[in-house]
Amino acid sequence: MKILKKFYSKKNFVCLLEDNQTMAVYKLFSDRENYLKEKNYYQVFHDTNLAVPALLASKNEDCSILLEYLNDETALDCLEFYEKYHDLDKASELLISIFQWLESFHQLDVIKSKNLSFYDMNLRNFILLNTVVYGVDFESIQKGDLLSDTAKLIGMYLNYDEKYSSFKLETVARFKHFIEKEGCFETDTLEKTISTEIVAINDRRNLKTNMI
Ligand SMILES: Nc1ncnc2c1ncn2[C@@H]1O[C@H](COP(=O)(O)OP(=O)(O)O)[C@@H](O)[C@H]1O
Ligand SMILES: [Mg+2]
Repeated sequence: MKILKKFYSKKNFVCLLEDNQTMAVYKLFSDRENYLKEKNYYQVFHDTNLAVPALLASKNEDCSILLEYLNDETALDCLEFYEKYHDLDKASELLISIFQWLESFHQLDVIKSKNLSFYDMNLRNFILLNTVVYGVDFESIQKGDLLSDTAKLIGMYLNYDEKYSSFKLETVARFKHFIEKEGCFETDTLEKTISTEIVAINDRRNLKTNMI
């Protein structure tokens, strides 16, 4: 067994393993509760049409899971690439695809019946495989709804470098135009929720800066 690469993670150890020419993602959790929570969601989502990697194995002794390896293309990498080449169409289409993944997520009984949300809208938690968006990372699922997740998606995207660039603002304008056409939320409600989420993102970051 060989470690081919280590993925970026703040809380856990996540890497790409190769064993007998088969590749898989190994995730070693730092927290047992989070391990049990995420393992359970992978099992539940497997029986739905939500695009997630398959859970290949799990080990209760060391709190680790083995996942089907999708691809190295995170939504963050793709959005950075589109910004570099000024591809507004592709960037707004990708935000729409993430939103559609979130819509499927929120339609699931296990999520809807308990008023839960995906919550951790880090753009590395979405991976593209043959133009299909997959979601990973279910440790942070908690109270919320499609509105709070959509507002977080916009707030998080705008806060990646270069923050609030004219490209990102235009991409978000196109994305909002799509959501408005769909008629999911009242425009005022969406705007207010985005502001709330951006304040929360700034508070979290200021808190971290002040602790250093
Ligand atoms: N099945 C997978 N296929 C490809 N890459 C993955 C897969 N699972 C995780 N990754 C990569 O590893 C990173 C960390 O995994 P994640 O589950 O998000 O852990 P954490 O909870 O520590 O953020 C992800 O952002 C993604 O880049
Ligand atoms: Mg993650």
